[in-house]
Amino acid sequence: MIAELLGVPGQDRYLLQPWSNAIVKMYEYGLPPEQQQAAERAATEFVAYLRELIALRRKNPGSDLVSDLVAVTDTDGARLTEDELVATAVLLLMAGHEATVNVIGNGVYALMRHRSQWERLSPEVMPTAVEELIRYDSPLQLFERTATERVEIAGHVIEPGEKIAALLGAAARDPLVFENPDTLDVGREKNQHLGFGMGIHYCLGAPLARIEVEAALSSLHRKLPGAVLAEEPNRRAEFVIRGLHSLPLSADSVSGA
Ligand code: HEM
Repeated sequence: MIAELLGVPGQDRYLLQPWSNAIVKMYEYGLPPEQQQAAERAATEFVAYLRELIALRRKNPGSDLVSDLVAVTDTDGARLTEDELVATAVLLLMAGHEATVNVIGNGVYALMRHRSQWERLSPEVMPTAVEELIRYDSPLQLFERTATERVEIAGHVIEPGEKIAALLGAAARDPLVFENPDTLDVGREKNQHLGFGMGIHYCLGAPLARIEVEAALSSLHRKLPGAVLAEEPNRRAEFVIRGLHSLPLSADSVSGA
């Protein structure tokens, strides 16, 4: 969907997921040198690809977001530099592949393991179910922050330039915040999770992500209500970006819906 929005031609879309999967490994700790090099290579190729796409849209604008952003870059007092345009496109493409996809994968896996919650799904319960899946098995486990000034957090002094890791996944199971935090409850009402971050960097794509997760979940539930795990899924090895390689399901009947 995001490739469509940005106007990445259909024949090139197969390139995006491998690039995205390789690049996000940069966020991980203790990355082996070959994966680090692969991540850097993927980032270089991805950026070169986007610069070509930008040049193409500059010559032949379409009705896509890259064309609109090129217009803002070239006119309107150059409010956006070309590097910012490339960074925005990279971020948008990766957000879909690394966050939304993993909410859907982790979420369906959780629902398969908690059958009663899968059976509770209905259009009415979808909004709370989407929030609960983001909370229960968060696709983004950790974000870093670098102190710009001396700050004290829970008795720990952080000096300027030092980093902290905010463990969003752990916060999502905080018993001081959530009632029965380890229980998957698709109807959970009070659900102040930090899955989309908070403050000025609160996820810009949250409204789109919610629509995407709800659409994917509703469609699967409608078409394959009897879906069950065919085998245990293969989890991706990374910690910061938490997700599955694949989620094999089997179903007796497929409705025509
Ligand atoms: C369920 C899926 C998603 C989750 C869980 C998620 C989560 C997050 C989190 C935790 C942050 C804050 C990062 C930080 O504080 O450093 C963030 C930022 C951001 N997200 Fe998402 N995201 C999702 C989907 C998306 C999508 C689909 C888009 C774009 C279409 C998107 C665009 C962004 C952008 C642009 C920011 C940066 C905002 C800023 O720094 O001002 N996200 N997201």
